[in-house]
Amino acid sequence: MRSLLSICDIKYEIPEILELATKFKEGKINEKPLEDKTLAMIFQKSSTRTRVSFEVGMNELGGNAIFLSNNDIQMGRGEPIADTAKVLSRYVHGIMIRALEHEDVVEFSKESDVPIISGLTNLEHPCQALADMLTVKEYFKNFNGKFTYVGDGNNVCNSLLLICACIGMNIAVASPEGYEPDKDIIKKANKIAKENNSYVVITNDVEVAVKNASVVYTDVWVSMGDEKEQGKRKKALKKYQVNQKLMELANQDAIFMHCLPAIRGEEVSGEVIDGPQSAVIDQAENRLHAQKAVLYYFLK
Ligand code: CP
Ligand code: NVA
Repeated sequence: MRSLLSICDIKYEIPEILELATKFKEGKINEKPLEDKTLAMIFQKSSTRTRVSFEVGMNELGGNAIFLSNNDIQMGRGEPIADTAKVLSRYVHGIMIRALEHEDVVEFSKESDVPIISGLTNLEHPCQALADMLTVKEYFKNFNGKFTYVGDGNNVCNSLLLICACIGMNIAVASPEGYEPDKDIIKKANKIAKENNSYVVITNDVEVAVKNASVVYTDVWVSMGDEKEQGKRKKALKKYQVNQKLMELANQDAIFMHCLPAIRGEEVSGEVIDGPQSAVIDQAENRLHAQKAVLYYFLK
């Protein structure tokens, strides 16, 4: 029984999972491998893509998904994680959780008898990173280019650092001081990248990071849970907007990526996210195909 809480949990299996996702996308797997299986989906935060892609993914694989808003289940009223995990394990075959605190998902996985799949925590967003790499693979056919992340060194950035390191794609992250990615994640990414002969650059210099990039990626400046810091964050990250001028420093065939939801005029200009280099809708579509691969891999 395995869980997917971090990209490190699938360190050596990413190419295989991406291959599977491509097969699902191309309609090459038509069986219903998850017939009679049920996924519980606990959401402590809002979601459009994660919720819908997991639910549709389960249906397309022949199974069922149950949406559990934190406000509606007893855990939201203080029922212990351990009791919730043990009880749900008797009903369902897997549990997807979008949680406020990463530690809660770790505790959940320790107490559960069925696989736990993270649908985002404050530390990581592994399913997003898988869909993102599927998108990069589709656009470039390889991972030889430079992946650049600009802005807040948040959960999405942390998973991207790890996934790039695991597949040996060079990655540069440009964030303002105080908004760099998690220190332990940087350490892990550096170690893994070394094993795969790729590099990890963490800098405050956005121009250095974007120069010669194949992918320019950004995410919101105020993640769910950071709302109290809104003013401070917008000020600190102001110079880290991805706009046309910045995109011009990247390779000519560079793509723009964003996990969505996005705020036009903050982390990205409308011109870029709605422009010809933008891959964001393909990326969002790929959540479904990547999710199906993850569900197949962990629940079958
Ligand atoms: N990218 C992503 O996880 O989107 P949602 O918050 O809509 O699920
Ligand atoms: N970093 C964002 C990602 C949303 C999909 C957040 O955590 O709110």
